Amino acid sequence: MLLNLDKVRQYFPALASEWTFFDNAGGSQTLKKVVDRISEFLLSSDVQLGASYAVSQLAGERLALATRGMAILINANSFKEVVMGPSTTMMLKVLSICLGQTFTSGDEIIVTNCDHEANIGAWVALEKQGIKVKVWQIRPDTLELHLADLEALMSPRTKLVTLTHASNVLGTINPIKEIATFVHDRNAMICVDGVAYAPHRLVDVQDLDVDFYALSFYKVYGPHHALLYGKEEHLLRLPGLNHYFIQQTDIPYKFQLGNVNFELSYGMLGLCDYLSELAQLHYGDKTAPDLRSQMVQAFDLISIHEEELSDRLLSYLNSKPNVRVIGQSKADRKLRVPTISFVVDGMNSSTIPAKIDQHYIGIRYGDFYAKRLIEYLGLALQGGIVRVSMVHYNTLEEVNSLIEAFEQLF
Ligand SMILES: Cc1ncc(COP(=O)(O)O)c(C=O)c1O
Repeated sequence: MLLNLDKVRQYFPALASEWTFFDNAGGSQTLKKVVDRISEFLLSSDVQLGASYAVSQLAGERLALATRGMAILINANSFKEVVMGPSTTMMLKVLSICLGQTFTSGDEIIVTNCDHEANIGAWVALEKQGIKVKVWQIRPDTLELHLADLEALMSPRTKLVTLTHASNVLGTINPIKEIATFVHDRNAMICVDGVAYAPHRLVDVQDLDVDFYALSFYKVYGPHHALLYGKEEHLLRLPGLNHYFIQQTDIPYKFQLGNVNFELSYGMLGLCDYLSELAQLHYGDKTAPDLRSQMVQAFDLISIHEEELSDRLLSYLNSKPNVRVIGQSKADRKLRVPTISFVVDGMNSSTIPAKIDQHYIGIRYGDFYAKRLIEYLGLALQGGIVRVSMVHYNTLEEVNSLIEAFEQLF
């Protein structure tokens, strides 16, 4: 079954503009359903939670609904495992401060050199308190992380391994489930940055068996707001960051400084509605009975379409002798997301997007805050990479137009 793009695109009013959005890994377009939910909250329940009057009760119920919806989205065991906040960078910083208090000098953390800085810098900052940070590097030939290299880095002092689910530059999906088993077998925890993965595939924190997982809603068709998952046992055990009188057992609140953004949290229920409708639209009377299974159906369609988009663009880029794809060169949806990066021989990457702008197609170049990766690849002087980041609402026609524009350039 194929994704009905005409129907899909109607859910995103911004797609009616003349622009083609191919910078989705920077931020996706927002679902009208999300915007409607945000308005609904602000226009009819914009009060403080916890009072006895009906409007305050309604606000509380709406926030609880949203947290439960997000727990379903990532398949958390409990809504208490869903911490929300302004950005993934902030959530990982909060986590590093809280986790750091449970580590002692000489303990070790392993980060990668292919992550966004949000999931590196926060951990490196713990070096100040005597934590040793080691770097798990991708191999230069495959541009992939290999478990044998992690093995060599792990020691009895390793407390945490932290890495990205999908690279926001390479597009490559890391086999998190396998890595989590490997890490747990060696008595360490695993923290995963799911920002570049979550717009494309359905997250299942229980199946992956991760200890912590973060994602940003503005890349998953919502507003600038983020989620941090933590296993309940860890969240209960860790010190919080909130006021001294907030109970140690009060999760997720003890990690949410001040009020969490009520309206943006509530807005994300619009994503649940959308995924459910996608399933209904395509599966009719074969629609799965519960929300989580409908999400599985929706993301199945999404990933099939995305693979087709990747295949079209990668086939073109791989056929050009002067172009080097940086990352997974196959379109296979199990191996990559449709975030595709490349460099062109003899061209500074900075010169390319501005020429593509003229075709009303938005792409971009740079290091995308995966600065250590771009430096490791030796691409800093070339202006980093050019990145075309697609999502399921993009069409093959849009990819064809981009290819035509590229043809005029290189
Ligand atoms: C893979 C990845 N991780 C983390 C982030 C940071 O997200 P936020 O802007 O919510 O802090 C980004 C943003 O581009 C990203 O692509």
